[in-house]
Amino acid sequence: MKKPWSGRFEKDTNEMVEQFTESVSFDKRLYKQDIRAGTAHAEMLGRCGLLTDEEVSEIRRGLLEIEKEIESGDFEFHVALEDIHMNIEAALIRKIGDVGRKLHTARSRNDLVACDTRLWARDALDELLDLLRACQAALVSKAEEHKELIVPGFTHLQHAQPVLLAHTLLAYVEMLGRDYGRLEDCRKRLNVSPLGACALAGTSLPIDPQSTARELGFDGCFSNSIDAVSDRDPVLEFVFDLCLIAVHLSRLAEEWLMWSTPEFDFLDLDEAFCTGSSIMPQKKNADALELIRAKCGRVCGDLMGLLTTFKSQPLAYNRDMQEDKEALFDAVDTVRSCVAVAAKFVQTVAFKEDHIARACEMGHMDATALADYLVGKGVPFREAHEIVGRVVRAAAADGAKLEGLDLERLRAFSALIAEDVYQVLGTRNCIENYRSHGSSAPAEVQRQLEVWHERLGH
Ligand code: ARG
Repeated sequence: MKKPWSGRFEKDTNEMVEQFTESVSFDKRLYKQDIRAGTAHAEMLGRCGLLTDEEVSEIRRGLLEIEKEIESGDFEFHVALEDIHMNIEAALIRKIGDVGRKLHTARSRNDLVACDTRLWARDALDELLDLLRACQAALVSKAEEHKELIVPGFTHLQHAQPVLLAHTLLAYVEMLGRDYGRLEDCRKRLNVSPLGACALAGTSLPIDPQSTARELGFDGCFSNSIDAVSDRDPVLEFVFDLCLIAVHLSRLAEEWLMWSTPEFDFLDLDEAFCTGSSIMPQKKNADALELIRAKCGRVCGDLMGLLTTFKSQPLAYNRDMQEDKEALFDAVDTVRSCVAVAAKFVQTVAFKEDHIARACEMGHMDATALADYLVGKGVPFREAHEIVGRVVRAAAADGAKLEGLDLERLRAFSALIAEDVYQVLGTRNCIENYRSHGSSAPAEVQRQLEVWHERLGH
């Protein structure tokens, strides 16, 4: 395989170096984008008078054939040709001869690889937007299914205050909503064409990069050719956004793993989403949730690798940049599967209402409601806190719930406590009495649900 750059060399490339520097083994995933960019580039060269109409059609036809060959598995990739770009160009020349040699006019692999990567990442990003929406929709449906169900709300993993299950599910919907917005925002910077920057300096040939940008569906064209070939910010930003999605899903996974233990016993996981043990016959493990939790580490590793690779890179293109692709592909593949599996998990999980109700009776979660009650009677909050602390201590010593203490007992802590205290104590009353914005009040949760139904269009 003769290298397109062999003119200046006397020696053959060392075999080990060839293996070490190749990227076609992984960047062949960019073949569709490379062919799309190549076609748009040829058409632009035609419009600018650098290729004849016949030459453009020949290139278009040749590239199309190559695409079909790759898709049917008939294409032979050569490591000696380094990367997907040179493999496709060499195949084009083999196919259509001299005309193929004109495709690389006013083009470099430096602007081409930047272009292909952006096109690939754009498609991946759009797919992730859909997957996020589907996961949000699954959470909203679950919330709708259990609109009345009260669960313990935790802080420090200790029982804190009762909340509606729907409210906690909607908290994840909010996280994924921000992830969605971050991806949309990233897309703006990603969707700018670097094609036409050539190696780094532009060209003396009369090209029209704005028109290729339009043809390829970019929202804009680069402003500075040096920046265009060396900028991988959108890739780094995209992978950061993927990390945050993975972080959010790992929180859900961890919570549900805990909720599925016999100690909590809040959840019944669908068998089809669990696996067994090779030695312990009774086991039903939520390995899929554990892997969602774990894969977060892997995606964060991808980001760390990228940031470190790009640190200190002088302008403009450096071969270091070739290292962006495996991390990007891995982060996309990983998070894509995590979001898809998480959505299925959400759909199939069942909440054990009776066990959850029993858990809600523990931990004096209505203590804050009692303090608020005293505030309503004119007691300064700090003092109310102190009084209720003593009530809780007494109740705990008796193994009693707050609502289990009779009025006389309660009045020993504050003479302001009256019969109406029993409309405040107990988890159900807590929920009914919440009223603040964005709280677990049924009306507020209903409002949040409606907002999401509307946004998700279902
Ligand atoms: N395979 C290379 C990459 O992914 C393509 C660009 C190579 N350019 C160069 N001048 N060696 O970055």
